[in-house]
Amino acid sequence: MTVLKGIDLTIEKGEVVSIVGPSGAGKTTLLQILGTLDKPDTGEVYYDNVNINQLKEKELAAFRNKNIGFVFQFHQLLPEFTALENVMIPALIGHANSSAAEKRAKEILDFLKLSDRTSHKPAELSGGEKQRVAVARALVNHPEVIFADEPSGSLDTANKAELHQLFFDLRDQFHQTFVIVTHDEALAKLTDRTVAMVDGSQL
Ligand SMILES: Nc1ncnc2c1ncn2[C@@H]1O[C@H](COP(=O)(O)OP(=O)(O)OP(=O)(O)O)[C@@H](O)[C@H]1O
Ligand SMILES: [Mg+2]
Repeated sequence: MTVLKGIDLTIEKGEVVSIVGPSGAGKTTLLQILGTLDKPDTGEVYYDNVNINQLKEKELAAFRNKNIGFVFQFHQLLPEFTALENVMIPALIGHANSSAAEKRAKEILDFLKLSDRTSHKPAELSGGEKQRVAVARALVNHPEVIFADEPSGSLDTANKAELHQLFFDLRDQFHQTFVIVTHDEALAKLTDRTVAMVDGSQL
């Protein structure tokens, strides 16, 4: 089955791009392909000059760890680990030494106003806090881009607004690039560009 058709998309550094469209339009599939978690049957994905479809599995895993952050609808934090440890994990996977990883993780948690939550486990955090920890984890390796799939889909209005503002703060202060799948029209309106999809195609 062909899920995506005729997608032609360039994401610039420092942009916040939203992807919108009805359920089943292919938004998650597109995000997974852009984020190297899934391979297209045809077509290519480039990061600068690197054709990621030509990387071997191991190279791709290393590339993903270094360059790409993910935020999902449900935080997907590891329940046995503290907020700090969850944020450190991608840095440790990327072979940072543990004191450097801890320093970086603390800096980000501090920026995200979570410094008093570092030793809490996910079950001890609110929904909004869990998503902010997930954003911190996505940021820890200074990724080129963060892909977020309905990141505020499970949050109440106040936490939604706070999370959305965080994306724009990170863009403005660190030139962080985001590609965000969302059903939230208010968020889509605030983004630099919106890609609308229907039936696997861009409108
Ligand atoms: N693993 C899979 N195997 C086969 N078909 C799939 C798979 N995942 C998704 N699809 C199909 O691909 C199409 C696009 O699905 P996708 O999950 O990308 O949609 P979406 O736009 O993210 O929808 P939603 O807003 O509900 O999350 C749908 O028709 C879906 O049924
Ligand atoms: Mg989806």
